[in-house]
Amino acid sequence: MTHSPELEIYICGVCRPKNADSDDPRRPGRDLMKKLKSKLEEQGLEERFALKMMQCMSVCKRPATITIVSPGKFTFTVGDLDPETTANDIITFAKLYAASQDGIPDWSDRPECIRQGIIARTPPFNAIHQRVKDVG
Ligand code: FES
Repeated sequence: MTHSPELEIYICGVCRPKNADSDDPRRPGRDLMKKLKSKLEEQGLEERFALKMMQCMSVCKRPATITIVSPGKFTFTVGDLDPETTANDIITFAKLYAASQDGIPDWSDRPECIRQGIIARTPPFNAIHQRVKDVG
């Protein structure tokens, strides 16, 4: 029987490293994907936290870039993630995100790479939340 994941982690697999030439073959997002996949499997989390590759999230100057989504929760987009050092921190954040009601883990609990790399926190469709006010 298959279960829906609790959340999805999208990773841009197209960005080149910062300041790389246009023919540079390196793709930090793909390196991060491999690390994350391996670590999720080590921890038995691969069904709870689904990994998906994406072609461009329009934040191309901040590789590696991820977006974490879950129905009814705020979406987090985070960049500047070093594929060599941040996989465990991303998983830590994903656990906090999964455990939170609204998808907004406490700032003080977030790993440093998530705090430093945050690009956007976007509300879900039809959000009902103290941070969201209707207009008109
Ligand atoms: S190519 Fe990765 S965000 Fe655009």
